[in-house]
Amino acid sequence: MHMETKFPAGFLWGGAIAANQAEGAWREGGKGPATVDMIPHGANRLAVKLGQQPRFEWRDDEFYPSHDAIDFYHRYKEDIALMAEMGFKVFRTSIAWSRIYPQGDELTPNEAGIAFYRDLFNECKKYNIEPLVTLCHFDVPMHLVKEYGSWRSRKMVEFFTRYARTCFEAFDGLVKYWLTFNEINILLHSPFSGAGLVFTEGEDPQQVKYQAAHHELLASALATKIAHEVNPQNQVGCMLAGGNFYPYSCKPEDVWAALEKDRENLFFIDVQARGAYPAWTKRMFREQGIAIEIQPGDEEILKNTVDFVSFSYYASRCASADMNNENTSAANIVKSLKNPFIEASEWGWGIDPLGLRITMNMMYDRYQKPLFLVENGLGAKDVVNAQGEIEDDYRIRYLREHIRAMAEAIEDGIPIMGYTSWGCIDLVSASTGEMSKRYGFVYVDRDDRGQGTLARTRKKSFWWYKKVIASNGADL
Ligand code: BG6
Repeated sequence: MHMETKFPAGFLWGGAIAANQAEGAWREGGKGPATVDMIPHGANRLAVKLGQQPRFEWRDDEFYPSHDAIDFYHRYKEDIALMAEMGFKVFRTSIAWSRIYPQGDELTPNEAGIAFYRDLFNECKKYNIEPLVTLCHFDVPMHLVKEYGSWRSRKMVEFFTRYARTCFEAFDGLVKYWLTFNEINILLHSPFSGAGLVFTEGEDPQQVKYQAAHHELLASALATKIAHEVNPQNQVGCMLAGGNFYPYSCKPEDVWAALEKDRENLFFIDVQARGAYPAWTKRMFREQGIAIEIQPGDEEILKNTVDFVSFSYYASRCASADMNNENTSAANIVKSLKNPFIEASEWGWGIDPLGLRITMNMMYDRYQKPLFLVENGLGAKDVVNAQGEIEDDYRIRYLREHIRAMAEAIEDGIPIMGYTSWGCIDLVSASTGEMSKRYGFVYVDRDDRGQGTLARTRKKSFWWYKKVIASNGADL
């Protein structure tokens, strides 16, 4: 339906992927192994993600979807051309840290890794597509996990800032939109995939997680400072796995539980966007027996706040005073109760477009910084029909409703920089490792066990999104 657009001129329409879910070529071009390369598809996946089953080597009897993924490493020219055909203004991807520093603690970078990303970003520029680049999307170099215990060590701040500086300098003039850590709050919920954390017996995971969080927050603040020093045009964002918690009922205890759950996740963004630990953390740390080592000067470092606040939104969440209720929402890594008022996807993720408007309003009220919705979409099974077409009306419906909700948020007065729907080309699912949980406008012929030609096919949603972009969101 054609309406008047609510989106500002220059709104950045596009799509998002991540290195580890798309590139493959996990040992090519000098790349070192990363955490995600140790996470198999299948029964052992969750335990590894949670850091319960440390895997420092890969095994022949497991299938690791990141190793080949959708072979974006060799096919990016074809893929970027497809994004350009849809009219993308922005393309979000991540740099694989271990392509630039294969071990993570070297003093000089791997030139082949830099060359790959320079070519990729040049390819985007060829079509006037602005790259939006995440420095770390669930892929800490494995050597840093083995030698230093990943983010539990303060040495990581030095390694990450060296890596960040290398990227800002190497890609200066090609990239101006940066994100430091993807879904930084996932560190609390999936510590190995989120931050490379593995726990030893008897230690308090909360203590380790919050110390690691402190290090990540320092690294993020320093990277932001360096980005601005390298080029004042650089804009750096933080990135939250978003979605507000609703109280399960109006019982005051449920309302309080929802507030606490939101705070748990927003803690990171509070620091990154406001430059200091929120007041309530003192009590929380005291009551949970957490003692974070904070060095003199750290508070000053944290004052290097981000320029914009980005987040992913798939679903809203629900909390009550009794979170052990069996009625939890399936699959979503941030534990939530099932909301009886909304529908759910095939993977049990709630579908709640109004929740996006609610989340955006809360975030802007809280941070007063421009927002960027850098992930949103529907993971669904697609069927290729006899004519070789994919009629993904369910995906169009989901995206249309969420774009409408975003338009309402713009009318609410919120500055929104852009929208990159998740998995614009089908890729490996982060939570399940499946290929069959598809998000794309472009279908990739590959199945959950890695079989298929990898051929790319435009889905029905491809033509729909092209029209949305061409009309700047008027023709939904
Ligand atoms: C976000 C991640 O959690 O959600 C992505 O940043 C991920 O990496 C996306 O792929 C969708 O989740 P899933 O599990 O369906 O791939």
